[in-house]
Order: sequence, then structure tokens, then C-alpha cells
Amino acid sequence: MGISFLVCFILGLLPIRITGKTWKCQHISYNLTRDYTVKYDFPTFRATSAIQNMVTYEPGNVIFVAVQNKIYTLNSELKILSTLVTGPWGSTECEICALCPVKGPVDFQNTDNKVLVMDPVEPWLYSCGSSQHGICFQHRIEIQGDIVLLGETSCLYSPEQNRPSECPDCVASPLGTTLVVVDMRSASYFYIGSTINTTIADTYSPKSVSIRRPKSTLDGFAYPFHSLTVLPEYQDTYSIHYVYSFQYQKFVYFLTVQREDPISNSYHTRIGRLSTEETEVHRYRELNLDCRIQSKRKRSLSIMPKDVVFNVLQAAHATNPGSMLAQAIGTSERELVLFGVFAESHRDSKVPQKYSGVCAFPLHMINKAIETGMTKCCSLDVHDKMLRGLTFYQHMEYCPHNVSPHQEFSAFIYTVYYIDFLGVVR
Ligand SMILES: *[C@@H]1O[C@H](CO)[C@@H](O)[C@H](O)[C@H]1NC(C)=O
Ligand SMILES: *[C@@H]1O[C@H](CO)[C@@H](O)[C@H](O)[C@H]1NC(C)=O
Repeated sequence: MGISFLVCFILGLLPIRITGKTWKCQHISYNLTRDYTVKYDFPTFRATSAIQNMVTYEPGNVIFVAVQNKIYTLNSELKILSTLVTGPWGSTECEICALCPVKGPVDFQNTDNKVLVMDPVEPWLYSCGSSQHGICFQHRIEIQGDIVLLGETSCLYSPEQNRPSECPDCVASPLGTTLVVVDMRSASYFYIGSTINTTIADTYSPKSVSIRRPKSTLDGFAYPFHSLTVLPEYQDTYSIHYVYSFQYQKFVYFLTVQREDPISNSYHTRIGRLSTEETEVHRYRELNLDCRIQSKRKRSLSIMPKDVVFNVLQAAHATNPGSMLAQAIGTSERELVLFGVFAESHRDSKVPQKYSGVCAFPLHMINKAIETGMTKCCSLDVHDKMLRGLTFYQHMEYCPHNVSPHQEFSAFIYTVYYIDFLGVVR
């Protein structure tokens, strides 16, 4: 359900009660919503090439902006404070490349900055590029008076433990990676989602979903680590595209666009959830997120077709709602809500069409839907056996019976019709 529809619905309640007549959203001409006389004077920053990633560091009032082979540090007026060169490998300009003890001669290779994230506790910025099989750097942020700088950099890589078949230090995939850094028992853990194919999997395989801990010696990641990877037979035919990831309370969430199942041609959007209370992936769960307009009434003014399923997520952000929206979607201002911009894709493709819709999903509803699915899957009194799903990660089997889903339940109101439980990993 689109936000604009929800807001209009609330505004509509009052006049109905007063007049007793059917109330209709008033038509406001487009011109009345615009003031053409206002002159805007925004600070601007023009990057030399496409911006690949951006992150803010609030204590220092700075923004880090990554483009190919560079990370800029900008102040709040978008003036460049400093520029860090991250590539190309094999050029003398990249001073941090020389910090990595990579074996053999290094070919000239550009660095697309696939990951740029802040540590949740320490003043550390992490960047992971497409070059050298996706290795990462940690950059310490130094505040000297009014000046914020990227100080000492460490290359999170050691040659000894990495081979094409198993590479704990290979984090970023050239096909796309999303990452959340979680503070757990005073250590940082990387929760990583990467798009892979057979070529990438065979050469210093990044995993599809993994949890890795940078070693305190800052020369790589602890080994072994836990992960899930699309089974080899599906790696070239079943791509998982990671759009966004975030942490909320004791979970990390990944938003993906992928085909409905390995034999379907239609795409949809999913949310995957991992627990931050364990470093294993046994509690990985997935839901289908459905964003649609379902109009029961005729809406003659609308330019949109009447029933639209916006199946492919384009961008997302999780934040707290304002009071009015919180009330409309049955949540509170203190609770996190996931906002997603969804498009309708072309048939049998994930390429978006012209229109898009915004849907809001309160996190408590997402968690409830997962708990309901788990109870159904694991419950003792279900006679019809359920398949555990997610057949691109694990072989087809029934749900594990006779196990407790480790969740407490209060009365459950199943109002989130747009969420389907898709399976468990176990
Ligand atoms: C809207 O404003 C523009 C610019 O002032 C004007 O040219 C146009 O005729 C207006 N359209 C309507 C429908 O009022
Ligand atoms: C996998 O992706 C890489 C990077 O885009 C590409 O070079 C390679 O050809 C792809 N492999 C297959 C089998 O599609």
C-alpha cells in the first residue's frame, strides 16, 4: 500500500464523520503545490566520475564519498578536505595498495568501491573494492581540532590463509555487495551479502551471505567463518541482487531482488534476516516483501493502472516514522520502519518500468511474520509436512519437526497480507 494513499485515507476520516457524505481527496492542481519564485542555493559537489558509495561520520561532520579509485572526505559544505587514492592497482599513486602483501606481480586493475561503511563504535571507516578479489581496508579517522582526516590505513589481508577455494579476506564481489558492521561482545563483525556467479565463486569465492570478524591484528579475517552460498548448479542461473542492508535490535536484514524460485522467470523482492546473537547462519530466515496498489474504488483521476504489483525494490531506507504515519500503519514513532521504493518490472526481467511506489513495513510486523512462519514450519501439530524452502541454498527437505522455534508468542494478528514466509535454513 502506498504511503500517499494511507495519508489521504487518514485525512479523509474526519469530514466523513462531520458531513455524513462520501469524502473524496480534493484535487490540487500541480501548480498550487509549487512556488516557482523560490531560489535554491544548495552547496554542491561534482565528482570526477559516478558516485559508487557514500557514508556520513556525524561526530566529525564529514561525508565520505567513493568513486572509482578514490574516496573523498567532504565537509558539511561539500568542500573536499582530502582525497584517498584506492586504485588502480599497479600504479604508484595508490599508496594504500602497497600495504597489502599480495603475491606476485600486480596487474593494472581499477578499484570500484563496492563497500563503504562505518564501524558502529570506533572511528573507523571500512572500504572494500572490486580489485584483488574484493579485499577490504580499515581507515582510522583522526580529528585534529576542526580538521577530520583519514589517518592510518590497514589492509585486511594476509596471503597465507587465502586460496581460490576458500578466501576469508575476499569480501566484495564485482557483481555487488552489501555489508553491515555489527558490534558484538566488543568486537566488530561483518554481515555480508554478495552477488556471485560461477566465475567469481571459483576465483577466491566470496559467499552469498556470510558473517566474518576482522582479526585484531588487522591483517585479515578470522577463519573459519559461517556462510551460505547459492549451490553451484544455480550460481549462473539464479542471481541474488543485494539492494540494502541494516541492523535493528538483535538482527541484521538484507533486501534482495531475485527470481521467485529457481524455475520461475518472474522477479520479486525478499528480506533475509540473520541473528546478531550468534555467528552461525542457522537462524537465517527469508520473507517475500510485496508492495502493491489494490484499489477497491474507481479512481478516475489516477494516472496509474488500478492494480499494480511493484515487484522489484530499487532503493530502501530504515528509519523511525512520523506520528501520523506511525498511527496509519499500526506502529509507534519509537519503532523502526523499512521504507522501500519499488518498481514494476518488465515481464520476466528485473528491469524497472516507469512508475514506482513507496511501501512502509514496520519491523515488528516483519519479525512477527517470520515467527509465524517458523512456528508453522517447526510445530509439532502440523500434520501436513512443510518444505523448508530456499532450495538454491540447501537441498529440498521438510521443515525440522519437533523443535522449538525459540520464540515467545502473544496474540497474533495477521494484518500484513503482503508477507509470505519462504523458508528456514537448518
Ligand atoms: C502553471 O504555471 C505555469 C508557469 O507559471 C503556467 O505557464 C501554466 O499555464 C500553469 N498551468 C496551469 C494549469 O495553471
Ligand atoms: C561473472 O561475473 C563476472 C563479473 O561481472 C564476469 O566477468 C563473468 O563473465 C561472469 N561469469 C559468468 C559465467 O556469467
